[in-house]
Amino acid sequence: APRARRAAPAPTTVTEPGPPVQDGADWSGWPTYDAAAHGFRDYWYPTIWAHEVGEKPVPITLAGERIVLVRDGEVVRGLHDRCPHRGVPLSHGRREFPGTISCAYHGWTFGLETGRLDAVITDGPESPICGKLGVATYPVEERLGLLWVYIGDVDPETGPPPVERDIPAELIDNTLVLGGRNDVREGNWRFATENGFDEGHAKYLHNTALWRLFKVMPTWNKTRIVEKDGWLVRVQDELFWEAEFPGVGKFTNKRWWKRIPLPDHPGKNGNANPVIDALDIPGFVSVRMPGLLRVAYPKFIHYEWYVPVDADHVRYVQLMVRFETGLTALAFKAKYLAAFRWLFHGQFTRQDAWMVNVTDAPPERLYRPDLSITAWRRHVEQVKPVVQPTEKRIGH
Ligand code: FES
Repeated sequence: APRARRAAPAPTTVTEPGPPVQDGADWSGWPTYDAAAHGFRDYWYPTIWAHEVGEKPVPITLAGERIVLVRDGEVVRGLHDRCPHRGVPLSHGRREFPGTISCAYHGWTFGLETGRLDAVITDGPESPICGKLGVATYPVEERLGLLWVYIGDVDPETGPPPVERDIPAELIDNTLVLGGRNDVREGNWRFATENGFDEGHAKYLHNTALWRLFKVMPTWNKTRIVEKDGWLVRVQDELFWEAEFPGVGKFTNKRWWKRIPLPDHPGKNGNANPVIDALDIPGFVSVRMPGLLRVAYPKFIHYEWYVPVDADHVRYVQLMVRFETGLTALAFKAKYLAAFRWLFHGQFTRQDAWMVNVTDAPPERLYRPDLSITAWRRHVEQVKPVVQPTEKRIGH
């Protein structure tokens, strides 16, 4: 006799916040986010390390726009990397005159600060086209050893907003020592951001990370997402279990998570760093616009910027920061170069890179821990940022 059919399992729903989740859900519930394959405008983004740019022009792609970065004395300038004559990249150009770059093909010469066509080497000093056109320029600032580029329309009267607006204040206001990695990886920036804030992946994907020889990955329960100072913070109200996975977690004796605030460990983080203590972050992992993750360990903070390159690539800027000086700072730098750079910023986050590259959503079917992802998407819809168009910008 045919077996009785089992009742269909109750549908899994994501608790607030977030729209109802259905099988095969697309992203129509998050239209701004859905359209942002190339990221958002009106933000400063970290790009390459400042020391990578000298006299020689360096091409980058940011939010779908090709940009050439050139050092001009003390400052670095950014121009649209496309000569308006025949479309040759200016990053192949030469530095014939101070403060300019000349296209390698026919010598159209552009002012680095203004982007204006100042001379046409092959058409003589009276060339009628001079001053009549130019290429778009991009504000560039140097902070934390990185070149920050502003994507957005700039009011000529007021200029862009200060770059400090888009850098966490603790990184501006304090003496610090940092180690970092900066590379372009496969995958869309949204998958990278979601992966970073994704509660479920930390419980499983990173089980096999060598980093866990040194840091137990705790598993929390009762997740809430709270908003604090522009950050979405993942708060877990109780420790659920302590890395009871097969693997390496048990070998460690570093119960660092005991210094993360929990109801049974109220208040500050015990013997944590005073700068981190003063931030009073209610949880361990936070995310904010336009795609920045902050993971606050008791004694250091790890940051990841997910910078849109194009629809299929993301610049992954990782900084590990300690707010220390003197010998402690030196010791940290040495430890970073000898171990953390390979263990944490290498093998650990390459696991993330792997998953970001192979994620293929939507359609998608979400489950309870995806609360962190849907909260992030909903936050984007509330902020309603300007979406970067997918067409390339052409010079003026
Ligand atoms: Fe640049 Fe001709 S293509 S000068």
